[in-house]
Amino acid sequence: MNQPILSVSDLRVSYRTQGGLLPALDGVSFSLAQGEALGLVGESGAGKSSMALALMRLLPRNVGLLDGRAELEGRDLLGMSDEAFRRDVRWRKMAMVFQGAQEAFNPVLRVGDQIAEPLLVLGGASKGEARREAVRLLEVVRLPAEVYQRYPHELSGGMKQRAVMAMALVLKPQLLLLDEPTSALDVTVQAQIMDQLKELKRDMGLSIIFITHDVAIASDLCDRLAVMYAGKLAEVGPADAVLLRPQHPYTRLLLASLPRLHQDAPPQFIPGSPPDLRAPPSGCRFHPRCPQAFARCPLEEPGLIQVGEGHDSRCWLAEVRP
Ligand SMILES: Nc1ncnc2c1ncn2[C@@H]1O[C@H](COP(=O)(O)OP(=O)(O)OP(=O)(O)O)[C@@H](O)[C@H]1O
Ligand code: SF4
Ligand SMILES: [Mg+2]
Repeated sequence: MNQPILSVSDLRVSYRTQGGLLPALDGVSFSLAQGEALGLVGESGAGKSSMALALMRLLPRNVGLLDGRAELEGRDLLGMSDEAFRRDVRWRKMAMVFQGAQEAFNPVLRVGDQIAEPLLVLGGASKGEARREAVRLLEVVRLPAEVYQRYPHELSGGMKQRAVMAMALVLKPQLLLLDEPTSALDVTVQAQIMDQLKELKRDMGLSIIFITHDVAIASDLCDRLAVMYAGKLAEVGPADAVLLRPQHPYTRLLLASLPRLHQDAPPQFIPGSPPDLRAPPSGCRFHPRCPQAFARCPLEEPGLIQVGEGHDSRCWLAEVRP
């Protein structure tokens, strides 16, 4: 792997809730190389958004615990002062497209002015410079320049999503976090947005963390996949290996739940539902839903076990494989 741009180790996030502390991220570690795209996949509630929000230091107020380490180009993201983070990191080095961001536009301001605003406020640009740069970015995301003058309600869902991407790119970040950027879009527009991301990765050398429920979509863009289950990584590895040789029973079920074009068998459902994180199952967190669970699983929690080159699975079955 090239020098990592991001390295995360033992990241923990818990929320304060009425029923006690809820550990949404429970010791997550991974790294991301320069120019690499990592897909973070898993069911609702796995902790995907919490991961991205922790890195951006935008977690909600009811965070009860934030622990571990995250370094961006060697700089300690969680330990640095708020001021340094705002001045040097957020939007400049690392930007995020939020889940549901299409609805986050201010309805009474022109789209172009909203894209240009960070350049005026944070980038010290003149009005003319900011405007020119916003128009250039519209071009980068394949939107016509006249979109600058439009109001958000005058854009389709796909156009809004592109505009949101332009906004995230305005201060030329090296790392872009995208949280479910295509889930509200129809399949054709989804494919266009994915092509756009591939171009940005190739042409700008952008590093990407792409969050989605949909493994199929993630695998198209991503070099590596990280499968999350109940606040932990269940499996992580090169995208091809995870797709073609999934090792964790949860990953297998996730893949089997995808509808396939050229297959008669209907997609399978993953049995049961994600656990209550305030009182997670003993041993392997997946054991109550796992078709391959055996005696050891409810008793001892597996760590990540290497199953191939850069490929790890949090499952006791990995230990017995040759
Ligand atoms: N502000 C909050 N207060 C309390 N619990 C929260 C809060 N935000 C998230 N959670 C809980 O933390 C866990 C992880 O949530 P998170 O939003 O990170 O999951 P996710 O993988 O992004 O899910 P989705 O696919 O639905 O977006 C869930 O159990 C969720 O209910
Ligand atoms: S450790 Fe056991 S319960 Fe957990 S995924 Fe592996 S086989 Fe299933
Ligand atoms: Mg989410």
